[in-house]
Amino acid sequence: MKPVKVGICGLGTVGGGTFNVLKRNAEEIARRAGRGIEVAQIAARRPNPKCETGATPITADIFDVANNPEIDIVIELIGGYTQARELVLKAIENGKHVVTANKALIAVHGNEIFAKAREKGVMVAFEAAVAGGIPVIKAIREGLSANHINWLAGIINGTGNFILTEMREKGRAFEDVLKEAQALGYAEADPTFDVEGIDAAHKLTILASIAFGIPLQFDKAYTEGISKLTSADVNYAEALGYRIKHLGVARRTDHGFELRVHPTLIPADRLIANVNGVMNAVMVNGDAAGSTLYYGAGAGMEATASAVVADVVDVVRALTTDPENHVPHLAFQPDSLSDHPILPIEACESAYYLRIQAKDHPGVLAQVATILSERGINIESIMQKEVEEHDGLVPMILVTHRVVEARVNDAIAALEALDDVVGSVVRIRVEQLN
Ligand code: HSE
Repeated sequence: MKPVKVGICGLGTVGGGTFNVLKRNAEEIARRAGRGIEVAQIAARRPNPKCETGATPITADIFDVANNPEIDIVIELIGGYTQARELVLKAIENGKHVVTANKALIAVHGNEIFAKAREKGVMVAFEAAVAGGIPVIKAIREGLSANHINWLAGIINGTGNFILTEMREKGRAFEDVLKEAQALGYAEADPTFDVEGIDAAHKLTILASIAFGIPLQFDKAYTEGISKLTSADVNYAEALGYRIKHLGVARRTDHGFELRVHPTLIPADRLIANVNGVMNAVMVNGDAAGSTLYYGAGAGMEATASAVVADVVDVVRALTTDPENHVPHLAFQPDSLSDHPILPIEACESAYYLRIQAKDHPGVLAQVATILSERGINIESIMQKEVEEHDGLVPMILVTHRVVEARVNDAIAALEALDDVVGSVVRIRVEQLN
């Protein structure tokens, strides 16, 4: 049988890795796909020194690939929103299947792209968009399709996890670790996407859609980064038996869905609390399977290429299938998506770590306890440290039981208004994940 022809747009870290894996494992991949897979064209502005493209035709114009009549599958690896959207829509219009690693594109323009793909009867696959080499999209979309999924929580940004790990284990400076992540090809073109949680929110948006069968709603995700975390809180969290991780959480509630990315205290003995470096992990809780955990490299040249190539194999296997029988893009049939709302962060429920800097006066603790109890906030544990020499203040650390965020906001405002409380109250959400 004739080989399937693919075109790769973008020859950066993931593009180079995809070319290399397709070439190195060509025989094994053909045995799986049932046909050979040939890279018929590459669009790249410059060569990738880690990639020997040999006689493969190269163009500088990505639309040459989308318009190439020889090509069956366009692999979009240029990143970004605007050009990538135009490229993918053009490829679909020309009847080509698309494989992409672009989480921003899917999270923001996925609803439009999938509608167009359905109209044209083509597939759009995006396993590499979430958690690099971990086949978590496939696991949720297909492996867990029997389940009513209750919640999922994931460390889904390798750069952020790498930074937090190096800071905690080696006391390295934030900027220094970020530079290393950029040199290793983990970080986004704009690294604020990594450290401010935007990249993780893109991925969480996608995971939530396939877990709950809801349209992609990136604009409703709550996003908080790691740039304001201090080593004091990292250390107090440890003393209380927790680790701080940058987590994406999606939860089903009776009122709607929670969709939030923020630093989170997790009990130190949970497996996911021990996921370090650039590694990612996603926990999914379903009513039938219980909790399952998916772990692996969340970024990197060949780890991400592994997911891209797996999608190409899936598309090749389904080429002769009737489009009505393709696995739906968002796991659920498009006319069966739920319109339950995404909850604003004030309506989400969590436990909280609060750090208060108080003057060393009698009665402060009683005032703090009163403010919390008046709002129905139950204290799980409390730790008061000795007076700090540099400012004469006493750090008071509390962990609450689960409560709606609006109530905690109200309590924080009341705490900050106390004469004996200095500066802002630090608040970090806590998840038990059990
Ligand atoms: N910048 C992303 C990360 C790359 O660090 O996880 C993989 O999506």
